[in-house]
Amino acid sequence: MPRKDLLTIASLERGEIDQLLDQAAPFKEVFKRSVKKVPALKGKSVLMLFYEPSTRTHSSFEVAAKRLSADVTNFDVSQSSITKGESVRETVETLQAMRTDYIIVRHGRSGLPGLIAAQTHASVVNAGDGAHAHPTQALLDAFTIKEKFPEPCGKKVLVIGDILHSRVARSTTAILGMLGVRVAWLGPGSLVPKNPPPEVLRFTNYGEAMAWEPDVVYLLRVQMERQSAQFFPSLREYHRLYGITETRLEDLRARGLYLMHPGPVNRGVELCDAVMNYEHSLINDQVENGIAIRMAVLYSLRPKSQMG
Ligand code: CP
Repeated sequence: MPRKDLLTIASLERGEIDQLLDQAAPFKEVFKRSVKKVPALKGKSVLMLFYEPSTRTHSSFEVAAKRLSADVTNFDVSQSSITKGESVRETVETLQAMRTDYIIVRHGRSGLPGLIAAQTHASVVNAGDGAHAHPTQALLDAFTIKEKFPEPCGKKVLVIGDILHSRVARSTTAILGMLGVRVAWLGPGSLVPKNPPPEVLRFTNYGEAMAWEPDVVYLLRVQMERQSAQFFPSLREYHRLYGITETRLEDLRARGLYLMHPGPVNRGVELCDAVMNYEHSLINDQVENGIAIRMAVLYSLRPKSQMG
């Protein structure tokens, strides 16, 4: 039975993840054609409901939907009646009346996409909710890693940074665990949860983490906007202790390690400028793969009205 919504990685079966990753590969081939479009969602409507800023997720969902031939509407929150106090429920009821087929939602409140999904016949995709989940980021990360390691089971990914506030860390750790990838978290003690899932290692020292010999180093964005307190002494100190400095970049190069970051990058904090020319950086691959994965996700979901 096709799934209506995509809200979290934990809600997916391993077989569904494999199917989505397999489906993304032929969609990526579509990009190489002169006509980068397939008619799979012709006549369907996709609504983008973003209450928080986004560059990559928003634009790649929009491109993905258009490459599937769907009609896309951008709901401009700043120009809507939300600014006059309209509730999310009222907004969704209005959108429901417009018979939208797919709603892509990003919101600062954890769990809100699930509430919307329960209220509408449209398929709802969580494009990031608070510090909770970002399932399509996790899928594109897994797809990117599988392109380099087709058999990823047993490979090691070191996730560095602000784990505490990161929906990406939660979702990407979950999917990698399902694929048998070993995951470790590294960051300041104040930003790495004390009790990670049992299969996840926890480091607070860069040297110890590198002695674990990861295959991929995954830097997270420091989320100043979600930090209500001072979690580390200064950004300069953060870069010195946990960032990819020029010296560390040379070490990654010598080891041939892949480097990932979900974006947007705080230059000079997580990464030094020289990383932009690093031959094993997968940051641009992540962006490109985001479109293919989001095509696969939209293609796989079935709004309630279409369920047999
Ligand atoms: N990775 C990610 O979610 O980036 P955006 O905030 O630009 O969408």
